[in-house]
Amino acid sequence: MILHTQSWTDTNKLLFKQAYAHIVARIERGELKAHDKLPSIRMLAQELQIHRLTVFRAYQLLKEHEKVYVKEKSGYYVHPGFMESDLPEQTDRSPVPSSGFLSNALSEIQQIPVIYQFSQSLIDPNLLPNLFLSEYVKKVFDIYPKLMGTYSTAQGDEELRAFLCSYMKQHHRIELTESDLLITTGGQQAIDLICRVYVRSMDHILVERPTYSAALDIFRQQGARFISVDIHPDGYDLANIEMLMKQYRPRIFYMNPTFHNPTGFTVPAAQRKQLVELAERYRCLLIEDDAIHEMYFDQPPPEPIFSYDTDGWVVYLRSFSKYVAPGLRICAVMGRPSVIKPLTTAKSLADNGTPLVNQKIFLHYFDSERIRTHLDKLRIALQIRKEIVEQELAGTGWTWISPKGGFNLWLKLPESIPMEEFLNESIRQSISFVPGLICDPLREMRSWIRLSYSFVNEDQLREGVRRLVALSRKY
Ligand SMILES: Cc1ncc(COP(=O)(O)O)c(C=O)c1O
Repeated sequence: MILHTQSWTDTNKLLFKQAYAHIVARIERGELKAHDKLPSIRMLAQELQIHRLTVFRAYQLLKEHEKVYVKEKSGYYVHPGFMESDLPEQTDRSPVPSSGFLSNALSEIQQIPVIYQFSQSLIDPNLLPNLFLSEYVKKVFDIYPKLMGTYSTAQGDEELRAFLCSYMKQHHRIELTESDLLITTGGQQAIDLICRVYVRSMDHILVERPTYSAALDIFRQQGARFISVDIHPDGYDLANIEMLMKQYRPRIFYMNPTFHNPTGFTVPAAQRKQLVELAERYRCLLIEDDAIHEMYFDQPPPEPIFSYDTDGWVVYLRSFSKYVAPGLRICAVMGRPSVIKPLTTAKSLADNGTPLVNQKIFLHYFDSERIRTHLDKLRIALQIRKEIVEQELAGTGWTWISPKGGFNLWLKLPESIPMEEFLNESIRQSISFVPGLICDPLREMRSWIRLSYSFVNEDQLREGVRRLVALSRKY
């Protein structure tokens, strides 16, 4: 109940900012011009399905920032100085993006060049069978001499989809046909397409807390309202989820139940079936994002939630880009044709199909003997790297729950460390990590960080973690 009260307060805070940004965006797009009257508080509240007091608060702030002015007993009007005062310089009239929420905090951090790269939850390229892969590329071109001259269909290469159907049957006993699959350029594109198709501005959606921050940025850009669900080492509080579904009627629940990013937690098998039942009961589409299914250390994870779906309330995103061949960026979206069809249309609008070359290379490589050896090697290498970080962190007072798979440690640091300053100083010393705050839909997890041990080699890992710990001791 405490959790629920917290998320409601925070949702309201976000809502008022969203209403503010909504009006600013309309003015910037020229839909509302100087001296035009803003929609009445009642009308906007109705349109955005939010409380009138939330709109009132947004309008007051617009007034305070001199973006609008008030005419006594008449309403709010666009301030004539709005456009001028908001442009950086008269001479630099750059185009204005229509979305006030366009940001990708994770990508910004990852793009900073550093030596000790702990913000990339990606495999060290040296761990990939690079030589073998390049030989394979030649082989694939021999099989399909016209490959470079051919587009894929928007839904994806039929041969690859047929192969993935038999793969799902063999490995998960899930029966699919080619029409149940869509190939996308990575899991990231799949989340984006799902958001475009299933989320409208101001819709309530369930998200885990914490979660994959780029997904939050995608949903935020669409104007979604987050209802957060805590994820624990032993899964979710299902009674809480049911209460939230009943109260908010969310359109989707975006979840990452297997080696969850950033915590590494895995939702147990016993909860998986019940989640599908809840989804069916409350008509909430579960978006099961499974980006590193095979990156377990000792035991394979439970079967996907998708395997329990009988009524079409789960969309399964199985990305192979992280650990098979990141350069190919292949993800398979699986679901009922009623879900796959609109997503295929969205995909055709976005890029008309993932490059066929990537799909064919992936198909033949993933079907090869070599891939199994590669995955076995990766699992061992990752576990060793995880253990190195854990050894270096022993005795620091930082806390974490050791993951059973995946690329990340989710670390709680002492609250006395000023996180922003710590991150900036780390970057100056060529070390980067992901601040927990950007993974939190409520933006409160200030003392947490995600440290990825997958991208740098063992020596760099040891040295970088030592430096990071030494730096933290200054605070
Ligand atoms: C949970 C999750 N979903 C999706 C993605 C994006 O995957 P891809 O590289 O296939 O676009 C990532 C990447 O880190 C991730 O961790």
